[in-house]
Amino acid sequence: MTILVTGATGNIGRKVVDHLLARGASGIRALTVDPAKAALPSEVEAVKGYLRKLDTLPSALEGVSSMYLAPTPDTVEEVVALARKAGVEHIVDLSGEPESWWGTCSTAVERSGVDWTHLWPGDFMENSLMWADQIRRTGTVREPYPGSASTPIAMDDIAAVAAAALLDDTHRGEAYLLTGPEILTRTDLVAHIGAALGREIEFVRSTPDETVRALTPTMGDNARWYVENVLTYFEAGAPAPNTLVEGITGRPATRFADWARAHAHEFA
Ligand SMILES: NC(=O)c1ccc[n+]([C@@H]2O[C@H](COP(=O)([O-])OP(=O)(O)OC[C@H]3O[C@@H](n4cnc5c(N)ncnc54)[C@H](OP(=O)(O)O)[C@@H]3O)[C@@H](O)[C@H]2O)c1
Repeated sequence: MTILVTGATGNIGRKVVDHLLARGASGIRALTVDPAKAALPSEVEAVKGYLRKLDTLPSALEGVSSMYLAPTPDTVEEVVALARKAGVEHIVDLSGEPESWWGTCSTAVERSGVDWTHLWPGDFMENSLMWADQIRRTGTVREPYPGSASTPIAMDDIAAVAAAALLDDTHRGEAYLLTGPEILTRTDLVAHIGAALGREIEFVRSTPDETVRALTPTMGDNARWYVENVLTYFEAGAPAPNTLVEGITGRPATRFADWARAHAHEFA
């Protein structure tokens, strides 16, 4: 049995590899554009390829029974067709509800005829790293909606769920709306980062245009999209925290305060 992890040096894919190994899995194959640079653990078979280079996939998929599918909506139809042709039996996909931004991926996976487990996370704790530049330069965070909230989840928890799902058939046919353990406003997040750094970070209420300017050094052209779509989406209310991460992985979901302490060096 071979398990293929795609986007294997990505933020989540790399952690999926680690969680599979921690669970004692063998036969892990990692898809990466440059196996020499990937620095994957020696037990892992690194194969050259990318989900947007379809001709690299048939050999990577040979003998694969299950796969972690990183999100590449533009080629997902072709990717899942190749997976089915190669005999893949189970796809664990990072995606979103059918009507959402990432819905293309879950819809294509369901249409493929291969068994699936959907991972539908909300806001990532790692998204707060977009503030690192302004925290370093100005000691402030500029955003328009201090009280808007999300239920952020750590990427490591998503990867831990993915690994558990890849190794356990009981997760087939499940769509998991993954959340972190608590609802946090934008000011709560900033306060936790300040506590982790040991100094106060001021939240400065700014206009959408000022916010775009503050985020552009980190996010480039995506800053306006983020401010106009994601931040306004948070205004609609946060999903209630659920216990899926703990139920599936057997360990409690990461709290943002702990995540911030572990990542404080990235804001300092
Ligand atoms: N609800 C949500 O918020 C939600 C849902 C679904 C998805 N997402 C998105 O999923 C992402 C999380 O996945 P991830 O950060 O682990 O990254 P990813 O998109 O899963 O994987 C990125 C990996 O793809 C490979 N790659 C090869 N060529 C590339 C290229 N030209 N450009 C970019 N990547 C290339 C790289 O690995 P190799 O070098 O090893 O090939 C890279 O590390 C988030 O950034 C988020 O935007 C979010």
